[in-house]
Amino acid sequence: VHRLIYISRSLVGSSANELDAIVRRSVVHNQANGVTGMLWSDGANFAQVLEGEHDAVAETMSRIRADPRHADIEVLVDRSIAQRMFGGWAMVLPGEGSETTDQTAFLVGFAASQHTDLARRLYEIVLASYE
Ligand SMILES: Cc1cc2nc3c(=O)[nH]c(=O)nc-3n(C[C@H](O)[C@H](O)[C@H](O)COP(=O)(O)O)c2cc1C
Repeated sequence: VHRLIYISRSLVGSSANELDAIVRRSVVHNQANGVTGMLWSDGANFAQVLEGEHDAVAETMSRIRADPRHADIEVLVDRSIAQRMFGGWAMVLPGEGSETTDQTAFLVGFAASQHTDLARRLYEIVLASYE
């Protein structure tokens, strides 16, 4: 299994409609491809985790890269993993009544453990997405 984590700059703000539209299409594709994950937005930026078979994650990521709704994609993690941490949803936003607290805590812990500018930005995006 493979995990990819990236951040990007939103070009569509954080309207609930835009986010819902993104997640709705993502769920359709991800279910077909065995991809799971989670998406955070603080209004100005996105942070996303994708997990699945290597080729499925790569194919999904190439579509995401081509999407004009965001820019400046920066990949923090792109590696194989022993088991999924984000296996419960084809794609999910935090705070939809879903039990995503453990997943957010996992990502915040990861971000806090990495002393890089990208990890600091990831940390800030995830925390700000709850404000
Ligand atoms: C922040 C963000 C996250 C996205 N995440 C996914 C995803 O997890 N899976 C996916 O298939 N598409 C995702 N997309 C959408 C793709 O970029 C692309 O628009 C979509 O896959 C195209 O599907 P459609 O032509 O069937 O609508 C995301 C887009 C954005 C802006």
